[in-house]
Amino acid sequence: MTPTEAKKRIAALRKEIAVHDELYYRQAKPKISDFDYDALKRELAGLEAKFPQFAGADSPTERIGDDRLEGFVTYRHRLPMQSLDNTYSEEELREFHRRLVKLFDREALDYVVEPKVDGLAVSVTYERGQLVRAVTRGNGEEGDDITANARTIHSLPARLKPVQGHPMPDVIEIRGEIYLTLAEFQRINQEREEAGEELYANPRNLAAGTIKQLDTSEVARRRLEIVLYGVGYCEPPLAGAQHGYHELVKHWGLPTVERYWRATGIDEVWRSVQELDQLRHAFAYATDGAVVKLDDFRLQREAGSTAKAPRWAIAYKFAAERAETRINDITVQVGRTGVLTPVAELEPVLLAGSTVSRATLHNKDEIARKDIRIGDYVLVEKAGEVIPAVIAVNPKRRPEASRPYHFPDRCPVCGTAVVQLEEEVATRCPNVACPAQVRRRLGHFVSKACLDIDGLGSAMIDALVERGWVKELPDIFRLRREDLLTLGKNVEKSTDNLLAAIEAAKQCELWRVIHGLGIPHVGVSASKDLAAHFRDLERLAGAAREDFFAGKESVISGIGGTMAAAIVGFFAEPRHRQLVTDLLEAGVRPRAPEKRAGGSTVLAGKVFVLTGTLPTLTRDEAGARIEAAGGKVSGSVSKKTSYVLAGAEAGSKLDKARELGVPVIDEAEFRRLLAAGGEG
Ligand code: IVH
Repeated sequence: MTPTEAKKRIAALRKEIAVHDELYYRQAKPKISDFDYDALKRELAGLEAKFPQFAGADSPTERIGDDRLEGFVTYRHRLPMQSLDNTYSEEELREFHRRLVKLFDREALDYVVEPKVDGLAVSVTYERGQLVRAVTRGNGEEGDDITANARTIHSLPARLKPVQGHPMPDVIEIRGEIYLTLAEFQRINQEREEAGEELYANPRNLAAGTIKQLDTSEVARRRLEIVLYGVGYCEPPLAGAQHGYHELVKHWGLPTVERYWRATGIDEVWRSVQELDQLRHAFAYATDGAVVKLDDFRLQREAGSTAKAPRWAIAYKFAAERAETRINDITVQVGRTGVLTPVAELEPVLLAGSTVSRATLHNKDEIARKDIRIGDYVLVEKAGEVIPAVIAVNPKRRPEASRPYHFPDRCPVCGTAVVQLEEEVATRCPNVACPAQVRRRLGHFVSKACLDIDGLGSAMIDALVERGWVKELPDIFRLRREDLLTLGKNVEKSTDNLLAAIEAAKQCELWRVIHGLGIPHVGVSASKDLAAHFRDLERLAGAAREDFFAGKESVISGIGGTMAAAIVGFFAEPRHRQLVTDLLEAGVRPRAPEKRAGGSTVLAGKVFVLTGTLPTLTRDEAGARIEAAGGKVSGSVSKKTSYVLAGAEAGSKLDKARELGVPVIDEAEFRRLLAAGGEG
């Protein structure tokens, strides 16, 4: 490579890495795997080593971007939170040891091998045993103060248990990771799926997205966990070794790593690393490697650090697990809105601790792009150790008679010709009476997040749809006892229970019915906002564009432009308006929410106008906060406006505010206003 080429490539790599850092850190939505990210970093480091004239400050450490978000108070770590050099190769791990052997002139060095927890780095400070602060890594020097959110973590004690013979340090910064268990991750994703919201790719992203919520009560709804594995600043300094520290942390009552290994010399280290790889899938948190640390704190200090990472520790990363298996079949599922999703039915294969037998193929284009065929052997990977994905086909093992997969032209359930709208990747069955769609719609309608009708499991729903008793949602309220009794023997009691549950559901809360309608983009919280605003199903169904917007801006707190358009579009369809009429006719009388009483009143009587893009809050979020604090949001500036809350690229409203002398505040000031009442 010529220097000119190298210079170009280095610049391109830096740019690409910066994009991925942004996605990973600030948005918690990475687009590439850690493995691919590390490969970019390594390529950059390799080029910089060869062409030092173009080198920057980067080194081949792990992601060391900057997780700080506006809206949080910045806090400077007493000791920087460094990252670790990392490797995927046994040889480089041995090289790490050789460097230390050379430095200390002895072979028998003691190490501790720990799981590398795949969470979000955090530093927790205890002063004389009291939890005083939790801060994210940020850029390593300073991070975001997330103390309020961290206090919602059940396993993080507010006070350390005293340990005999170990006086409580005056100040100690303890380092660890915040994470979500797999079960909690799945629970939240399921809730989001039911609400029609985008799913999180893996627990790490969800944990990162959660701890950076500005609304602490939202954080508390998700069960975050924490594990602590290291010490930063400590006054008076901690003597001893890493293994002793693990024990001390445990005695203080802090959650620590499930297991660690003490190893002398690199062969023992390597054995421990492999043992960890065997055991780690049974751990409560996701792990993506092993961290090898010199045990003795004194030797750690002697080894010191480079600008980015300590010389006394290294992360050995396990490559994302992949397995090759055969696609026995491709089935196509039909969703609530008729979207056809192809699914690979795999020859079951053990992957990252569980058996994988299905993987989504996303859509028609994805299959064509990867040329995935029935009978192919494919590489399957668990992204973030959770959702299996088909990475690629192994062309060498393709059967001779294989033919490209032909995506169905007709709905596999009702036989209607499918459609693909130009602006969508999805292929749909346009028949709203398709039994698959009816089943899904009904399943959603009666689910916990909607009408919450007990006794309507999927087998029952299948039976009702199959017999033609339920063709549309309101039919559920017209079921006849004598029909239901034909479904089996001894079903009197369950039938009566079911009918009673259905009867009771007629008077459920309004938001449940709104959510149950399955309006695109409208989840639980939007349904609640709509219920609070419209207070009546027919009013919602009859709402026009003007009821949602003032000019281009949405006027209902919690309901943004996309959602408003989706709602208006939904009820523009005669069959959806008919649905509302039929529900009411069937006796459904949902209850509007009580008018709010109590709560915060710091902004009582204050009228806000929002304009421009705020650094961290969406307009909907800001609106919701204003209303939660008793204030109002208006679409236009007048003399009655109390404040204009302005963000970047604010337009004519800002000019108008200045003209009328209305106070203009930014997000930081807004937060101070809220904080005056104990919010934000
Ligand atoms: S020690 C100065 N130990 O991985 C080194 N880090 O890739 C401090 N991590 O920044 C880190 N498990 O966020 C250490 N057992 C463990 C870890 C661990 C996960 C994270 C941590 C660190 C990153 C480096």
